[in-house]
Formats: sequence, C-alpha cells, structure tokens
Amino acid sequence: MAKIYAPNSPEISEREIQNMDRARRIAGQTMVLLENKGVLPLAVTDKPLSVYGSGVRRTVKGGTGSGDVNSRSVYNAEQGLEEAGFTIASKAWLDRFDQICEKHMQEHLQHFMSLLQENPTDAIRDSLENPYRDPDVAESTPEELGDGDRDLAVYIISRTSGEGSDRHVQPGDYELSQGEISNLKTLTEAYRSVVVVLNVGGVIDTKFLRAQPGIDAILLMSQLGNISGLALADVLTGKVVPSGHLTATWAENYTDYPSADTFGHRNGNVSDEYYSEGIFVGYRYFDSLNIKPAYPFGYGISYTTFSQRTNRVSIAGADIVVSVTVRNTGSLCQGRETVQVYASQPEGKLAKAYQVLAGFAKTKELLPGEEETLAIRFPVISLASYDPDTAAWMLESGTYYIRVGTHSRNSHIAAAFRLEQTVVTSQLKNRLKPDESFSEISVSPARFYTYPGEAQEKKEAFTLDLIAKAIPSETIQYSGAPVELTTNKTEKVIMDDVLAGAASLEDLTAQLTPEELTELVVGSARGGFGSASVIGAASTACPGAAGDTTSSLLESRNVRNLVLSDGPAGLRLSKTFVADSQDNVIPGLGESAMGGLEKYFGVQAPDRPADAVDYYQYCTAIPIATALAQSLDMALVEEAGDIVGGEMELFGVTIWLAPGMNIHRNPLCGRNFEYYGEDPLLAGMCAAADTRGVQKHPGRGTCIKHFALNNLEDNRSFNNAHCSERASREIYLKGFEIAVKQSNPLSLMTSYNLLNGLHTANSYDLVTAILRDEWGFEGLVMTDWGTTGGELNPALDNKYGTSDAALCIKAGNDLVMPGSQQDVDVILEALKNGSLTLAELQLCAMRVLKLVMICEKAV
Ligand code: BGC
Repeated sequence: MAKIYAPNSPEISEREIQNMDRARRIAGQTMVLLENKGVLPLAVTDKPLSVYGSGVRRTVKGGTGSGDVNSRSVYNAEQGLEEAGFTIASKAWLDRFDQICEKHMQEHLQHFMSLLQENPTDAIRDSLENPYRDPDVAESTPEELGDGDRDLAVYIISRTSGEGSDRHVQPGDYELSQGEISNLKTLTEAYRSVVVVLNVGGVIDTKFLRAQPGIDAILLMSQLGNISGLALADVLTGKVVPSGHLTATWAENYTDYPSADTFGHRNGNVSDEYYSEGIFVGYRYFDSLNIKPAYPFGYGISYTTFSQRTNRVSIAGADIVVSVTVRNTGSLCQGRETVQVYASQPEGKLAKAYQVLAGFAKTKELLPGEEETLAIRFPVISLASYDPDTAAWMLESGTYYIRVGTHSRNSHIAAAFRLEQTVVTSQLKNRLKPDESFSEISVSPARFYTYPGEAQEKKEAFTLDLIAKAIPSETIQYSGAPVELTTNKTEKVIMDDVLAGAASLEDLTAQLTPEELTELVVGSARGGFGSASVIGAASTACPGAAGDTTSSLLESRNVRNLVLSDGPAGLRLSKTFVADSQDNVIPGLGESAMGGLEKYFGVQAPDRPADAVDYYQYCTAIPIATALAQSLDMALVEEAGDIVGGEMELFGVTIWLAPGMNIHRNPLCGRNFEYYGEDPLLAGMCAAADTRGVQKHPGRGTCIKHFALNNLEDNRSFNNAHCSERASREIYLKGFEIAVKQSNPLSLMTSYNLLNGLHTANSYDLVTAILRDEWGFEGLVMTDWGTTGGELNPALDNKYGTSDAALCIKAGNDLVMPGSQQDVDVILEALKNGSLTLAELQLCAMRVLKLVMICEKAV
C-alpha cells in the first residue's frame, strides 16, 4: 500500500486554475510571428470570423508518446477565439471535418484490434510508430464559406509527431497536404486576407505559404498545452504582443539541411547514422555555407518595431560583457525584444563556423518610445573549441569578433578581441573516438555568408586584448576503479541512521547483500518490457507515472521508493484512479495513462468494490519544450519548471523525466518538439532554467535526457550514431554540460542509441569519465525505459543488439529502468562470474540511496 497524495474531489482546483493562468502567460511569450502585412492583431468585432484548418477544433496541444500529458481538458482554438469574443462563421466546415475524423479514428482502431489479435507486442510497437493521425482536411465548399464577411479568414495547420517514429518529407507532414493547399487557394480567392497559424511541433515547408498572394500573416503558434486556444487568441487579438524567436533554422528546401539525404529512413539505413556535417549543425551550417534559409535561427517579428544600440563590450574577470540599449520605435503598442550575441572564432588549426551563439537576453514589455539597457555576459572559455589531436578544449590565437543582432542573419560586429597565443582551457583524454572512419564536410571561410559592410565593420571594430594568463585553465583527473565498501558498524544500519547523521551512506551500502544491492539498481517493474510494464506507465506507487525504484528495502532498512514521472510538457500521470478504503490502488479502474488501451489487451477491468474512492490527478500541460525555448526568456522557462515542481509535490512524484535536451539536428526527428532547438548553449540554458524551477521544490528533481545523440526515433534502440569527438562534445554534449554545471540536476537519463559502436547506457566514457569526472555531476544516472533486454524488432536490421544491464552498472549507469527480473539475473550473474565487481555494484546502489536520502531529507 503506497501513500495516496491525489485529491479525491473532481472539482477543478485553485491550483489548476492558477497554473493554467501561468501557462497561458508563458505561452503568450513563445509564439513566433513570421510574417505580418498589417493584418494582425485582429480587432474583436461582432462580424463572424471564418476559421478553417485541422488545428481549429482539433488543436494539437503537444506530441504523442511519453511526452504527452493527461490534462483535464484542452482549450482548442475555436474555444479560445470564442472566449475572446468572436463568433465563428465556419462551424459547418468544422463539423464536417469532425465527422471525417471520427470515421478515420474508427478505422484506425479496427486496424489496431486486428494487429492485437495477431501479436500484442507488434500492436504496441505499431501504436507507437503509427499513432492515430487525423486524415487530410476536407475541401471547403462554396456553401460552407457562406455569404458572410469576406475580409479575413484564419487557417490553422496542425501536425503531430512523437516518440518511436520520425517524420517524413511528405504531404501532411513536412509538406503541406493536398487538402491544405486546396483550402488555402480557395480561401485566398474568397477572402481579402488570410492569416495562417502553424500549430506544429517542428519545422514544416513554408514555400507555398510565403508565395501565395493573400496570405498576409503567418504565426508559429507551436503547441502550447491545455491552454493552447486561449493563448492563441491572446496573440491574435494583440492582448499579448508576440515576442518568440525561432530556435531552429527553417530551411527554404528540406534538401538544404546537411543531413537531408542520410537522416534515418531517408537512405534506408536506420542502423547507422553518420554525422558527416560535424559541428556544422543548424545555423552553423546555413551561415557557413551561405545557404539562405526561409527563416533563420533566432528570427521573429513583433506588432511593433525596435532599435538596438550597443553601448559597450568589455571584459569583466574571465567574462565578456555586452551592453545593449533596446528601444521600442513603434507608436502603436508595447512589445518585448531579444538581443542575441554571436561570436566568430578565428580560423586556425580547427575549422570554425561563421558564428556561434554566445549569449542572449530579452527586454521587459517596452511601451512605445521606451528603452531598456540589457547586459549579456558570457565566459571567454565558452568560445573554446575541442581539438581531438591534443584532447583539449582550446581558444585558438587570433581575432574573435563579437556580434550583436536579432537573428543569425542580422548580426553586426560590435567589437573584437585579440588573443596572441593559443590557450588550452581544459586538458582531457579523448573518450569518444569514432568506431569507423567516415568523412566530415570541409568548410572554408571563403564560403561564409556575408553582408554589405561586413569587411568595413571588421576593420573598424573596437579591439581589446585578451590576456592569455587571465583565462582559466584546468587539467582533468579521472577516477579509477571504485574500492569495495566496508563498515565497522555491527548494528544494522537503516536509512533513519543516515538521515540522523549516525551512520554514513557507505555504512548502509556496505551492509547490503548483493541481492539487495541489485534490487536497488533495477527499477521495480518485473513484468518484462512491452507487456505488463507499458512505456510511460510502469509505476505502481503513483498511477500513470513511468516507474518506481524499489520499495523492497522499506521494511528492513526504511529505504523508500522514488517515483519517476514523465514530461517534458508537464507531469504525465493518469487523470484518475481508484483505491479501496485502505488506500490500495485498484489497477484497471479509473482513466489510465494509456488512454484505456489495456482493455484491448484482454485486461478486464475488475469489479468496483463498494468502498472504492476516486482520485484525480489533473496536471497542467505546459507548452512543448521548443515553444518554451522560443521565448528566449529563462525566467519563464524556470517558471514552467516551477509549475511542474509544485504538481510533483502535490502528487508525490520525486523525479521528473525531463527536460529533454537533444539537439534538433534534422527537422524530421519525431521528438524534436520535446527538445529546445538546434543550439547547444540555448538547450543548456533552458534545461538549467527548467531544472531550477523544479528543484526549488524540496525533494524534487529533474532527469535531463537523453544522453546523448538521441537525434532520431526510427530504430532508436539499435541505431549507431557515428560522430567525431569534436562534434559530439561541441554540439551534442555541450548542452548537458551547461545544464549540469549551472543547475545540478538530481538525475540524468542515458539514451537508447549507440554512440560510436557502444550503447550510451553501457558507456563508461560518457557516464563516468565525461559526466562525472570532467563535469562534476553528482546525481544519479538511469537508463531509458527498456534499453536492456528489449525485444528486437524483426522487421528491422538489428545490427547492434540491446544494451546490457551488467554493463550499465559497470559504466556507472546506476539505475536500470523500468526494471525486469532478467536485469536482476544478468547483474547477479555478472557479479558471480567476475565481469562486474561488488565495488561497482555498491557504487551505483549507493547513488540510488543517496538520491533517496536527498529527497527524504528535503521533505
Ligand atoms: C522515453 C523516455 C521516457 C521513458 C519513460 C521512453 O520511451 O524515451 O523519454 O522518459 O520512456 O516513459
């Protein structure tokens, strides 16, 4: 019997109302205005508004899979606009589209049911890989357009994606569908102006939208959680002035992305992914090869206009400080602007990108004519590059240009720094050598993007000297093999002794048997992945949470279990559950996190006892991670974390399996919506802010994930990412390093994929040498769900097999989740045959105990 935290009243609570208000306020700052020929904001009048498209009534609040959140309800765009005072003129079209979708949904369900009868495992996989998606939109008929006002129509395009499968360059996904194009042609003929809203989690092809006369505004709404429609209406009506900025480059053509042809399924090889673009990811690629994007990284306009004036660029200790004054130069409305600071590093031994983001800041709401001065500060060493030849981070000698602007194609040189000699900022050992040789693209400055006046700006740049000796430098000492723990305590040590300071964690760990230690390092599920322990819902302590650590030491040592629950778009729990009057949760009653899928597996709901009590866990669905990042406002990202942290306290969740912080390497990654963007600095700062927000709450922690290079979903468990050590460190690990150093997350999750031939969950180099020895991470490392002993998908080439539970422990990956008897057996066998030492097992078990202790102490 676990303690029940959830309230037993179905009434909407004060907390839900407040958190929705907060989420709405945050969401308003995340939308990116891409185009506006004077049609936005919309005036609320009594003229009915025509709104079409898949996203009007079926607004997508976020992606599918473990990144989904079970909120009480979702405000769609139609409801949001109605609440704002509009009457909707296009109800007939919306009703008809609903009917089409309902029929499609029934067909999808029938397909699932017949798969289920053949093979339940295939059915689960299929439901992840081919989640239900709405069909193409209906044509709009002249009758449905009606004879009403023909001034303006709003068209909302929606997309959905999620874990387990990647997106495709095809109509209805990356491309516009036939129905969308046809609708937009009809509407632009029928109406004077059309406003297009993109209710999408990632990049889509905008060529048609930009070329079609009559489309006078494009707003990237993104996916905003359960207040989606309300927040959209706020921005469309100008109650909130849009101030979001793109965190990924939106290409003119999909084929412009460096990994366009080779990404995942694109070349038919989902076993091996060669990162041949090296460090040239996102704007680093587009700028360095001078490829014009549709919308550059950092781009976003407002209902007002701004000017920026750089006052000063200076050195303060080991940091560079840029002071910029922003002024609202418009006359109509207030607004917020960002200042983005980029740096161009000198070419030297290592090729460099045209520029890299070095820092950013956002103003408050500025009234027309109002000014604000922002200071953007960043350490000089953040401009270092990694040289695999010498296994060192270094600042190469030469001139560093500091640029200030509003997006990656609008940055101007504000100052220069000269460094006379190359400085090693960190001396390491190479840890991630590629397992195969493959060629990386070569980029020379001759190809760089440039703009009129850039050469002059360089010549005239105010130049300061960087003093080599003043730049901090370190040499990393790596840990050796752990030493077996012993204790001189003869009395039985329990967790209470540790909490009281009467014994140490070492004492407690040293007294545990190999079997007890193994219980600690394996999550509590014992059903075997894919059957009883369904993805994202294996917890028995908190219904709908993703998993628990063991409670088998509760009676003997008073070690309580930890509850781990998904994110990142909020807390993912079952909406409701049922318990008897003794607080025993009755599985199968209430609304499950799997949306009732269990019944299709032949699991009969049990009878409801007379003393049954209903409990309610309605969580706030916050904007998806990409949207949060688009705000470029770290205080808001922290507040989003704070919302989740509060709900974790309420529902008894210890660790939030979020934030996700993989890099948007290619727009087709099915989980990009769960990640912040294409830039490692931005990803790291957002994850740190989110973590600060959560960890403000006593005894609650984040689990930053998926470490690392989990940049595609098809065949994700068996995909080998081949990547150079330099690109791995500068692009794909950098964000994790920043988050670890800035916010001390309580835990981290390794990924499903392999990196250079080894499952990341089994990589000592990643999990111990880099994460702990180099960065000083002190938290717990867990696997992703079912990386060990996962069932191979016979339809795919499983060239690389699964990760190994004993190797996880050997690597320092402390906790194998969600856990299975097989994991326990494999670890105990490795201990017996000597391939795993007791000291290695103790070390991981002690880190699990440490997390339990930290969380216990705090509450
Ligand atoms: C996902 C993780 C998630 C876990 C638990 C996995 O399938 O990759 O991100 O935290 O399930 O639900």
